[in-house]
Amino acid sequence: MSSDTETSSRSSDSSYLTPSDWQELRVRPYQHQAAGHRDTLYETKDGGIIVKATERTEADNYEHIDNKDHVLSALKGYTPRYHGSISRSFFASSDDQENQALDSDGQYRRLSEWESRSRTGTCDKNDTYIALENVVHGTENLTHVDIKLGTRLWNRTAILKKRERMDREAKETTSASTGIKFAGGDIYHHGRTTPLNQDFCKNLTSETLHEGFSTIFPSIDDNILPHDKHSGSSSTDYNDQMTPSQKLEREKDMLEIVSGMKDRTQDICKSVEMVKKGGWDLTGTSLYLYHGGNKSSDDDGSSEVNGGDSRWGAKLIDLARVGPLVDDVDDQLLEDGVDLGMDTAVSKMKEREKALQQSCDRLSKMVV
Ligand SMILES: Nc1ncnc2c1ncn2[C@@H]1O[C@H](COP(=O)(O)OP(=O)(O)O)[C@@H](O)[C@H]1O
Ligand SMILES: [Mg+2]
Repeated sequence: MSSDTETSSRSSDSSYLTPSDWQELRVRPYQHQAAGHRDTLYETKDGGIIVKATERTEADNYEHIDNKDHVLSALKGYTPRYHGSISRSFFASSDDQENQALDSDGQYRRLSEWESRSRTGTCDKNDTYIALENVVHGTENLTHVDIKLGTRLWNRTAILKKRERMDREAKETTSASTGIKFAGGDIYHHGRTTPLNQDFCKNLTSETLHEGFSTIFPSIDDNILPHDKHSGSSSTDYNDQMTPSQKLEREKDMLEIVSGMKDRTQDICKSVEMVKKGGWDLTGTSLYLYHGGNKSSDDDGSSEVNGGDSRWGAKLIDLARVGPLVDDVDDQLLEDGVDLGMDTAVSKMKEREKALQQSCDRLSKMVV
């Protein structure tokens, strides 16, 4: 069992890509996106780096995190490692002939060859590419969820109309009442990956939010998958083939994962408080939770959940709307509700911890 490591042996500067690195980079559209805009994310050939077309602000924020004198550096280790940025105009010289051959997804091409596609998937403000560590690289049988944090989903640059629209959206979902919203994800369960589709995510209410967390951290007897609800089959059907001791092992694995993620989220919470005290607004960030098997380990298939050796992590991602508050002008903005969201996530994970612990206790009695 391993969580993602928080330290890097290289200094951050030496891991920033040079212009010629950017020129040579081969990427394809990212295959495991939980939520967010389409046509703006790419993965490198070795899968270790994600390239995102975004606003310059997001690049600046990652650079602040790498600057130990900056208030945002409190988030270091809790966000994906940053490998630098480059202006989109750097690639603008791509010629049309290359752009015509874009139909074969799955091929790795220079960013210049994807340029027109990135442009359609995004808004004009996205003038920058950033390179980030792919935090799920090396994770197989991935279960992950993108949880949008905050009760206020717009930042100080938003015009009144946008503020009103996003406030309405927050009230219609769990954002306004709990500070979190399931934006999307995938569940790996018994050899199948099921998307947490928009229907499932949008229909969660503050009363049913726990179901969202049960899909991410299921107990062995949970009937939790969105598709199971429709097909009439249940995860318990699959579990009949397992012995009590196999079930116990699987349950212990999941308990360890959720406990670790809860602890990590609490640590992130403390850093978020420091950043907020420092006058920064964290609007728009997501808590990205993931777990799965470790690709590099010897997988004997012995564990139902993760192939015996699991990887997990919790990171803050999507920093495009993060920015400093301006005294006086932004008095009414002080509450972004990101800390409320983190508290909600922690308390829901504690509920899962309790349910899994009870299940382990029950199974232990059957094993001895
Ligand atoms: N560094 C990363 N490592 C792994 N997955 C990532 C990373 N950054 C983004 N993703 C994936 O891409 C999705 C969208 O990323 P995000 O930065 O939120 O983009 P957007 O601004 O379009 O919402 C996330 O839900 C996650 O699945
Ligand atoms: Mg996002």
